[in-house]
Amino acid sequence: MYKGFLHTHYLVVSLFLLLYVIKTVLLLSNKTDLLKTFSKKTRLFEIIISFLFLLTGIYLMTQIPYGGKYDYMLWIKLVMIFASIPIAVIGFRKNNKTLAALSLLMITGSFGLGEVYHKKKGIAKEVDTTIAANDGKALYEANCNLCHGADGKLGMSGAKDLTASVMDLAAIKEIIIHGKGAMPAAQVNEEQATAIAAYVNDQIKGH
Ligand code: HEC
Repeated sequence: MYKGFLHTHYLVVSLFLLLYVIKTVLLLSNKTDLLKTFSKKTRLFEIIISFLFLLTGIYLMTQIPYGGKYDYMLWIKLVMIFASIPIAVIGFRKNNKTLAALSLLMITGSFGLGEVYHKKKGIAKEVDTTIAANDGKALYEANCNLCHGADGKLGMSGAKDLTASVMDLAAIKEIIIHGKGAMPAAQVNEEQATAIAAYVNDQIKGH
């Protein structure tokens, strides 16, 4: 469900941006007649994607765990998106290039901010929150046992023997977050990755 909404959101945001880039380029290059025809032809499509944009955005916001140190970015993003709407409407209605370009800049900027926010918070992934974020052992069992086994020696799907690993703490955390080769990135956030890495480093490696 969450993933479905997330993918739909990315898709509609991309289409929305594409539409706005085309319209802004047409306006900036003085092709106002073409812009008029283009806007007319894409009006229904624009209404549909704008609606989906809002709907999926609102749903995703309800899924975000609040209270992190990057939350201000989300608010800047929202303010930018909502402020860009009237600016875009006026800009295109009055064929005002500065306003149209400004609104596109704001929409693109808020999209970039959103990306940074999600990456930093690690919530672009479906995170298992039923386990305490600092319970490295339980998190390891839920995310790593399948391939590495409880003792780290299982070696399923070509997984390396963790007891023989010479990786340091930072490298272990890195491979948990980003994956490597046949090992997929774990569906965990920053805090959970830190806990798992510490567990692997202290309890499994070299044992
Ligand atoms: C789908 C199977 C799979 C799962 C699940 C998995 N791994 Fe791996 N892991 C691998 C494979 C395959 C490699 C070898 C990757 C390579 O070097 O190309 C590997 C390598 C590693 C290494 C590097 C060892 C070394 O010294 O080179 C570490 C550390 C590691 N995994 C930790 C974890 C942790 C912690 C988890 C749980 C968050 C996990 N893995 C989940 C398959 C898995």
